[in-house]
Amino acid sequence: MPAPTLPSLTAAKAAPSRTDVLVVGVSGTSEAPVPVGFPATVTKTIEKGLGVSPAELLRTSGAGSAVGTTTVLVPGKGLRLIAVGVGEEEPTPARLRKAAGSALRAVAGLGDNGLSVAVSLSSTEPETAQAVAEGALLGSYRYQPISATTAPHPVATISVVTEGKREADQAVACGVSVATAVAQAREWINLPPNLLYPETFADAAKEHVRDTRISVEVLDEKALAKAGYGGILAVGGGSSRLPRLVRYSYSPRGAKAHIALVGKGITFDSGGLNLKPGEGMYTMKCDMSGAAAVLAATRAIAELGLRVKVTAYASMAENIPSDTSYRPSDVLTMYGGTTVENGNCDAEGRLVMADALARATEDSPDLLVDVATLTGACMIALGSDIAGVMGNDDDVVDQVLAASESAGEPMWPLPIPEGAASELKSSVADLKSTGPRMGGALWAAAFLQEFVAEVPWAHLDIAGPAYRESKVDGHLGVGGTGAAVSTLVALAQSYAS
Ligand code: BES
Ligand code: MN
Ligand code: ZN
Repeated sequence: MPAPTLPSLTAAKAAPSRTDVLVVGVSGTSEAPVPVGFPATVTKTIEKGLGVSPAELLRTSGAGSAVGTTTVLVPGKGLRLIAVGVGEEEPTPARLRKAAGSALRAVAGLGDNGLSVAVSLSSTEPETAQAVAEGALLGSYRYQPISATTAPHPVATISVVTEGKREADQAVACGVSVATAVAQAREWINLPPNLLYPETFADAAKEHVRDTRISVEVLDEKALAKAGYGGILAVGGGSSRLPRLVRYSYSPRGAKAHIALVGKGITFDSGGLNLKPGEGMYTMKCDMSGAAAVLAATRAIAELGLRVKVTAYASMAENIPSDTSYRPSDVLTMYGGTTVENGNCDAEGRLVMADALARATEDSPDLLVDVATLTGACMIALGSDIAGVMGNDDDVVDQVLAASESAGEPMWPLPIPEGAASELKSSVADLKSTGPRMGGALWAAAFLQEFVAEVPWAHLDIAGPAYRESKVDGHLGVGGTGAAVSTLVALAQSYAS
């Protein structure tokens, strides 16, 4: 499983002379458009060649300033000019990320290959420069169809114009690490479940950190049984492709904190014996998005050399019905000894997460963050674009929300009601895995809370934003999005200094 190919991206003082496509910005209104990032040389060429000012060219081209709207200002075979809307007002990092993503999609739509693109959006502050770099790379990411014919690469190189400001150049490099990690998560999510299953996912996870300072340990089904991972084994037991637990450890000198991460890695969720209907099952290769996020983010954190210790767990299993499947009403003994009555085989995520959370608390981290495509109920609550954040510690939840804000990933807090555990009573075990149907995201979180002991913990339910069935949106394409990767890196950054 090779890593996805992205264009190479660097910071540049000005648009390089061999540029094929120059992306500039437009803000203001359609009556009074305001040019953003037009280099003086380009302004001169426009004024000489076309006899108009950039603002006039934008107005007559009808270039819209709505974020991500693209207009080809100068077509042809020479230097092509594309304007992208960055919003009427002062552009924020989130708007610039989206705009740069849309612009690179428009470049790919030109029909040429191997283009050199310069993106000039007045992004000379570190935050905006990083956002432009991320957006440009992620707007260029494509999942390559599995086919005998190889797909072309429209964009070869991208220069982000920063006017040579040192902090901005460093931020661009950081953006490259983050976007590369997001693209890797997307790639794992997009791979079909007949190719990416627990064993191959674990192999890919090993390969992913071969050239890094991250050490990796993989527990196979025998090791899982020996250590008592009853949740992962039950969920994964219906498939001939047996489960795995991957553990990454990044332990730099001078670490300021220890963060533990846990990700849900169901490589395909059929619902098990509580089989999903066909429509609901089709996208369930995305059910390993949490695992993809924690693995990819850990690599980016190490690559950036952040002074924070990270221990990441990815629980990998395939949820499939067969005569070896676990059943509704089975009682499972989880890692650490808690017993659980299984309420529904389609509520498999919380079982594989509970085992890994219980294991992660043994490392005594300063905080614990888990990421999972856990509940359809979270999508009912917050829609398809916003992740739910729950936890046992308001500070950790606030820190995650702050990180998501700077990463440009929409997230929103949901409560775990006082006494929620009483909804999970069982007459045959310590706990039941499922609670009432209404508020399903909260009971799932309340279940997980039973396994984190006193460790400050936040839970990210990314069932909505992990996967897009249709409609591209700036840096977000159709398919896996890599949701939570940038938030986790930003969170680690907030603990590293
Ligand atoms: N993987 C699903 C949740 C999901 C749904 C993710 C849609 C992404 C898109 C999860 O395992 C699941 O099936 N949850 C059930 C739980 C229920 C049986 C208590 C759900 O949400 O319906
Ligand atoms: Mn399920
Ligand atoms: Zn699931």
